[in-house]
Amino acid sequence: MNAIKISLYRGLSILLLAALFCGTAQGQGRTEYLLEKNWKFSKGDFPESVNPAFDDSKWETVRIPHDWAIKGPFDGNNDSQNVQIVQNGEQTASLKTGRTGGLPFVGKAWYRNTFVAPAFTKGKKAAILIDGAMSYPKVFLNGEAVGHWAYGYNSFSIDITDKMRVGKNVLAIGLENLPEASRWYPGAGLYRNVHVIITDEVSIPVWGTYITTPVINKDFARVKIRTQVNSLSGNYNGLSLQTTIVNAKGETVATATKKLTTEDLNEFEQDLVVRNPELWSPETPNLYAAVTKLYAGNSLKDEYTTTFGIRSIKYEAEKGFSLNGVYRKFKGVCNHHDLGPLGAAINVSALRRQLVLLKDMGCDAIRTSHNMPAPELVKLCDEMGFMLMVESFDEWKAPKVSNGYSHLFDEWAEKDIVNMIHANRNNPSVVMWSIGNEVPDQSTKEGGKILKFLQDICHREDPTRPVTAGMDRLKDALDNNFAAVLDIPGFNYKPFWYGEAYKRLPQEMILGSETASTVSSRGVYKFPVVPQKMKMYDDNQSSSYDLEYCNWSQIPDDEFMMQDSLKYVIGEFVWTGFDYLGEPTPYDEKWPSHSSYFGIIDLAGIPKDRFYLYRSKWNPEKPTLHIVPHWTFPGREGKVTPVFVYTNYPSAELFINNKSRGRQSKNKATSTSRYRLMWNNVKYEPGEIKVVAYDGNGKPVAEQTVKTAGKPHHIVLESDRKTLMADGKDLAYITASVVDANGTVCPDAENSLNFKVTGQGAYKAVANGDPTSLELFHLPKMKAFKGKLVITVQSTEQAGKLNLSVSAKGLKTAVLPIETR
Ligand code: GAL
Repeated sequence: MNAIKISLYRGLSILLLAALFCGTAQGQGRTEYLLEKNWKFSKGDFPESVNPAFDDSKWETVRIPHDWAIKGPFDGNNDSQNVQIVQNGEQTASLKTGRTGGLPFVGKAWYRNTFVAPAFTKGKKAAILIDGAMSYPKVFLNGEAVGHWAYGYNSFSIDITDKMRVGKNVLAIGLENLPEASRWYPGAGLYRNVHVIITDEVSIPVWGTYITTPVINKDFARVKIRTQVNSLSGNYNGLSLQTTIVNAKGETVATATKKLTTEDLNEFEQDLVVRNPELWSPETPNLYAAVTKLYAGNSLKDEYTTTFGIRSIKYEAEKGFSLNGVYRKFKGVCNHHDLGPLGAAINVSALRRQLVLLKDMGCDAIRTSHNMPAPELVKLCDEMGFMLMVESFDEWKAPKVSNGYSHLFDEWAEKDIVNMIHANRNNPSVVMWSIGNEVPDQSTKEGGKILKFLQDICHREDPTRPVTAGMDRLKDALDNNFAAVLDIPGFNYKPFWYGEAYKRLPQEMILGSETASTVSSRGVYKFPVVPQKMKMYDDNQSSSYDLEYCNWSQIPDDEFMMQDSLKYVIGEFVWTGFDYLGEPTPYDEKWPSHSSYFGIIDLAGIPKDRFYLYRSKWNPEKPTLHIVPHWTFPGREGKVTPVFVYTNYPSAELFINNKSRGRQSKNKATSTSRYRLMWNNVKYEPGEIKVVAYDGNGKPVAEQTVKTAGKPHHIVLESDRKTLMADGKDLAYITASVVDANGTVCPDAENSLNFKVTGQGAYKAVANGDPTSLELFHLPKMKAFKGKLVITVQSTEQAGKLNLSVSAKGLKTAVLPIETR
């Protein structure tokens, strides 16, 4: 167990961090413990383990966040589902093998943690906050049930004051994952954090503040803070609340004090004014902290810090979405929650790495499909500048899978939405709530009523953000006015129907809540190069020419075209930013496929070609000039091998072995010719291809070359981080490429690589982005896929140096040192 300082916002200066967080762990009324270490874990059902005297010495010792299923092994029988996926237009049921990732997550398991919370003394309050537990968590403290939840994605807190002991406490949490409960890999276990919070008998509860900024202009912002105060004794007399707003430099910019009385109904409102506010946006993620101190007379009872941002959002008929008065379209991606080879177990550096990649692509928004995000992701989005659509459900009352949320809806939907909103409503990154994804209830008579029920809860709990849902049944949703009731009508995969929908929608605005679903495998190129729907090949891969998609979906260019031509379409959320475990469409029935092909970035975190297509459109600040495909195709000599270039330059000239193959310019002939430069008829000859890009005035401004690779010769290692924090959690992602003697990546290399970490670090995981690979992420060896893979190493708690060495038969071993501080 470690005492922590509440949370680290990198947007705030070190100075502010020091001032705000050091010392708050102890002595100021509030102490928060993160229960990370020394958990005992066992799969199976052990109801008797709630007994504090239970002997768990034979159980595995784990650190949480922990995903019990990620070590596999993969098996097509794990949660195989005989289903008809109506959403995919299937007419009959068939056996889906890798739908939920082929990992052994189904079943029961128990976790136990023995801890001492020194801050807890008689008369104090204690609460446990669980950021998400997969699933049906039942929580026991010192042998007694203290509470439970059902939905594995939501945060919940429990008051454990009555059952807490001064000294040793034994916490036991039982979990259960049902088969056929998900459409993707859900993860398993205590995959998010568990906090124990000790406060005075009078204190601010979990999620006890709600900050809004009702007036924002250049000169000032009005900041309204509602703070709840709970007193065990029920006595509020003599209490006062002092709130200070601090900017990112650590300067106090506003303060207010309020005396409390019982008449305030435990919730106290303060109005503050911040002069010359520094607004939050993805480009300027400015944050403020409201530090609220609760006094009884002169004695400090509690100190509670809420990070927030000042920004305005507006969604207007015909005009669309504006942030701080500036109209913009969402350049967003949908992501599932898993972190590839780490499974569902959250890790801040893994999340940050994802956001760094997405930022470089020009992405400014994320949809947390189709469930509540980890708080760490929301914080990172605040700090790094991403707008969030926080989503709740993939199902309401009508099921998509036989053991899904439909069973929980009646009892839990309101509680789940309330917690989702309370946990995330102070975060400036959150710009809309989503109450559901492709719920089949769209087509039912009751659907509209459920929609209204959920939307009203959102409005009640947070009137400042609109509500959306991702709809797939365009006709039904329009005919029965389901779509007309939503604050923001979101359509999945309907770019060619936006016009029709717009005419019938009173909101006069549409969101591309889910778009594209183009499929590809990194580094795989199939011939002939033609657009294809649900195309399958014998090797279970999809082509990276980015022309393959699903029955219901499109290529990126089609969506771009509609987004560019329709003002009232407020942006898109591409399915998906990253490949994820499960849903290996189009190979849903073809084991060993068990992870998705939809990602712009593969499961290992390596950008596919499509990354550069989005980057060329979404990131005008940085030049993009990317050539598709690689140029090593022994046996294709003389055969048509198209070359595509993804670039934000308007035109370019292609040279093959120094001979010009002509110049191409973007043009409006087709959706692809608008966004790609394509040489469709060139023939392969080994050597070198070069593109020279021209600016709008026809001046050559940039060039890029791709060479034919020779035989695998050595390994090149590149790390995303040069130094790590010596906290036992920080991660570096090291891309290993198999290259020829000249350093050109061998695009078909499949060498089996072995990893060894020495010094102050440990090997954590590996992935190669191959959706068919059954090699296990946690073992220190894997075959390269298309010449590459990514190794994850973790720091220890000792500062020093770690060395990663990567070896393979016949190749020179590569070594990479990383410093840890
Ligand atoms: C959508 C669905 C997503 C995912 C996607 C694949 O219909 O909302 O969860 O299944 O299709 O294209």
